[in-house]
Amino acid sequence: MLSSLFNALRARPAPQPAAGGAASARGADPAVAQAQALVLEARQLADLGRLDEALAACRAASRVDPDLHEARMLAAALHLPGPNYLDFLAHLHKHVKPANYVEIGVSEGLSFRLVRPGTPAIGVDPAPRVDYALSAGSRVIEATSDEFFATHDVRAELGGPVALAFIDGMHNFEFALRDFIALERLAERSSTLLIHDCYPLDRETAARERATSLWSGDIWRLVLVLKKYRPDLAVHTLALRPTGLGMVRRLDPTSTVLADNYAAIVEEFLALDYAVLEADQAGALNLFPNDWERIDALLDAEIQ
Ligand SMILES: C[S@@+](CC[C@H](N)C(=O)[O-])C[C@H]1O[C@@H](n2cnc3c(N)ncnc32)[C@H](O)[C@@H]1O
Repeated sequence: MLSSLFNALRARPAPQPAAGGAASARGADPAVAQAQALVLEARQLADLGRLDEALAACRAASRVDPDLHEARMLAAALHLPGPNYLDFLAHLHKHVKPANYVEIGVSEGLSFRLVRPGTPAIGVDPAPRVDYALSAGSRVIEATSDEFFATHDVRAELGGPVALAFIDGMHNFEFALRDFIALERLAERSSTLLIHDCYPLDRETAARERATSLWSGDIWRLVLVLKKYRPDLAVHTLALRPTGLGMVRRLDPTSTVLADNYAAIVEEFLALDYAVLEADQAGALNLFPNDWERIDALLDAEIQ
């Protein structure tokens, strides 16, 4: 099973370098060749089931060449094995059949296109790059999420409370916190709010400034905020490749705890170092297995 996953990763194109000359410069760099050899070794170790050693080889490759996308993606597949978040979102839309959908951060629309045709759906992105025809009921609004929430009557536009939302916009946690506050206010208790990239791979890919091709940013801080300040919520991080998917249920649209304490919460949680995750990342972030029968059971149980 792991080898078919790694074959799929091999087939996945890496992001293109920013400048045309950069690719040839990288090709001549001995560090790149050394890192590629380490990735090859990591694949062979993974195929033999020696997963810890494979992960160590990936991490060594990233130390030698921090820009080698393949090394990060293979490490992510070893860190959180199994189907990725897009496969799960496709399943979730079929399982939950939400009355409507909001997505913050659309980019090329890989996740936005998974909404079932006919479902009222709004995607929000200041720089969307969707190049396919949107399905009936869907539209993409070119704006930051802050601008969007300030200027739209979202419930009226959707015909009711937000049923399912996916927060995947700006990857600094205070942006995701504001998106969460705005969406919970528009939701109802049985709605589901999803938050991408809650389970970081390593310190470099969790930096607040993007420096790596795979980038989760510091969204992990939001899970810790919700656990501390909103113990009334049901908060899980689903172990979905590449960097986890937060799932929040039992929402309370009347709660003002996060909004009232926003500035103090941001200050408190920005002060945390990544090291707080190192002793028990799974426990700290409420990791839930990538087992869809169990996730479905959780979803069904938590709908009242
Ligand atoms: C990781 S991509 C989204 C990927 C998409 N959800 C998917 O899974 O295919 C993040 C997107 O967030 C957008 N973004 C950045 N800042 C934003 C903001 N303040 N509000 C909304 N979207 C933002 C970026 O333009 C980018 O397209």
